[in-house]
Amino acid sequence: MRLKGKKVLITGGSRGIGRCMIAELIKQGVKDIAVIARDKKNLERLPEDFEKTKFLLVNGNVGDIGVLREMSSKIEDQWGRLDVLINNAGIVSAGSLEDIPDEEIYDQVAVNLTAVLFLTKYCLPLLKSSREAAILNVSSGLGLLGMPFYSVYGSTKAGIRQFSDSLRRELKPFKISVTCVYPTATDTEMMQKFKGREMDSPEHVAEKSIQALMQKELHFIFGGEQRLKDHRLNFESPKKFDRQISDSYDQRREASQSHRAI
Ligand SMILES: NC(=O)c1ccc[n+]([C@@H]2O[C@H](COP(=O)([O-])OP(=O)(O)OC[C@H]3O[C@@H](n4cnc5c(N)ncnc54)[C@H](OP(=O)(O)O)[C@@H]3O)[C@@H](O)[C@H]2O)c1
Repeated sequence: MRLKGKKVLITGGSRGIGRCMIAELIKQGVKDIAVIARDKKNLERLPEDFEKTKFLLVNGNVGDIGVLREMSSKIEDQWGRLDVLINNAGIVSAGSLEDIPDEEIYDQVAVNLTAVLFLTKYCLPLLKSSREAAILNVSSGLGLLGMPFYSVYGSTKAGIRQFSDSLRRELKPFKISVTCVYPTATDTEMMQKFKGREMDSPEHVAEKSIQALMQKELHFIFGGEQRLKDHRLNFESPKKFDRQISDSYDQRREASQSHRAI
């Protein structure tokens, strides 16, 4: 798929991986980009930083269905169609399940999963008006491999994976591709309170994700050969994988303890 002249909607494009995706889209010739995010200042900085791009901005929470409806109506009124939908906005609150406050369980499901289902539903008629459309969903390595202390976040991201497979098969009669990407730890604000290992840069994740979208790949898994091996082991011999994970139990608990970006 060539992106030149396409009309794109991205959630959470105001910073982190989403903002780097905007830079990448512009490099590929995109001139019209719609963005939803909560922080007004970060959102308003986009037209200043990317002067030649026409932005359609909605300042709000994707967890609020009214905000999603507002954005899809704006796109219908102003563009009459949508070519690319990127479901990127996400939040995390890690820790032992019993310790995660109830509202943070609800919010993670609302933002990371429910919002994606609703926004995609509202955008489908607009995507069907495009000659060649694409959906890019941002899952996570934690949506492939269930890790301790990420039971809620990981469940939402595994939901995104399943949604992507189902929707792709459902949309077979239409010209809409569905790509799902699975970043590993990436150096953004989301990871500021994570006391862990080396991370990918958001620029790298954005570049590879947009390439996967253009090549209509079904899945793109970050983390190299090791991540693919772990994925295979988890599927074929989950007990073996359990033993491997339990070796680093204390380290994982420590690293995730204050990991919260909500
Ligand atoms: N960083 C990682 O290590 C990593 C790894 C795997 C997957 N991912 C996934 O990659 C995606 C992007 O993450 P990131 O690392 O770039 O995070 P980030 O730096 O925290 O950026 C998140 C973006 O989403 C927006 N957002 C968050 N909650 C929102 C809400 N309720 N309504 C509207 N916008 C909202 C934020 O803007 P506002 O705060 O202004 O709303 C921001 O633009 C997420 O889906 C995340 O789960 C990240």
